[in-house]
Amino acid sequence: MKRPETKTGRFFVPFWTHQKDNALTDLSSQITSVHERFAESLSVARDVKDLDSIRVAYLGRSGELTAMRRRIGLLPVEERRTVGSLINEAATRMEEALHDAGRRVEAGSLLEALGERIDVTFPGLHPAVGATHPVRQTMADLCSFFERRGFAIVLGPEIEPEYYNFDALNIPRDHPAREGFDSFFITDTLLLRPHTSPMQIRTMERFQPPIAVVVPGRCYRRDAVDSRHLFMFHQIEGLLVDDNIHMGHLKGILTAMCADAFGREQALRFRPSFFPFTEPSAEVDTTCPACQGNGGECRTCGGSGWIELGGAGMVHPNVLREVGYDPAVVSGWAFGFGIERIALARYGVDDIRLFYENDPAFLEQFS
Ligand code: DAH
Repeated sequence: MKRPETKTGRFFVPFWTHQKDNALTDLSSQITSVHERFAESLSVARDVKDLDSIRVAYLGRSGELTAMRRRIGLLPVEERRTVGSLINEAATRMEEALHDAGRRVEAGSLLEALGERIDVTFPGLHPAVGATHPVRQTMADLCSFFERRGFAIVLGPEIEPEYYNFDALNIPRDHPAREGFDSFFITDTLLLRPHTSPMQIRTMERFQPPIAVVVPGRCYRRDAVDSRHLFMFHQIEGLLVDDNIHMGHLKGILTAMCADAFGREQALRFRPSFFPFTEPSAEVDTTCPACQGNGGECRTCGGSGWIELGGAGMVHPNVLREVGYDPAVVSGWAFGFGIERIALARYGVDDIRLFYENDPAFLEQFS
């Protein structure tokens, strides 16, 4: 029988020539045996290099299966299709097996890298959990301080009529103090409250003395945003009304409040001031907790050594009269402090905008 010659010049016995009748059966058994050898070498492959050489030996350009494929052209035309698909099927199965083996080998080398052991004492991954926002935390701590001293915590509306925000607080129409509040008006007479003081009126309107409340909440002003100002911020209002209440009580409780908020005894300073709803009025400062009052280059207090908390004073007789109290019988003090200012000083933050930028890198520091 004439032996066909390959391109490389080597002779071989075509697998179908010697048993012509049984060519297909014979072919499939050849494929099976190739596959068996392939599977066997795969089962002992240990790394990617082994797999590569197996791929080259069977599926590469001069691999066994490729060689079989090349010989298809020598087949009788009517058999080519069947033989071709048998070889293709085998090739597909081999590819799949190589792929699976690749994964096995990869996992194996990972285990090897881990010393083939899993360290069950290794700390787990911590899920990211949130933290209380520094402004909210400060607000909660201030409220808790007053609650422990018998004050009730009350909340009020953020949209107020002029009456509660101004008139009842002894700020008549056309009084220049109205301008100072830089309010956002919603209608001619409704505004976003620029301070929590309206709740003094709402509380006294509903209850008779003795009254001891604090009012935490959001306030709004038409302020240009900078490192010290926002158009939305928080205040905490305090109000105590009873017989014989005087400024000494105010100074006493605020001194304790600062010690509580800043973690140590702070000096307190009352500067004479003016608010239409208090007489006398004061602005209240406390020693800067960052520099302990030394000032200098301190960025928390801007070098003054003092942190301004806000306003305070003895409730004006006109305000007491407005809610039906007799100023000859009862007296009271009130204060209104900025919560962000206290938070800035407390945490040594020098820009109020950081509180509302929602930057995780900033906020995570408080968890
Ligand atoms: N409401 C004032 C403001 O926002 C602060 C204030 C001053 C509140 C004196 C008071 C007070 O209760 O007695 O500017």
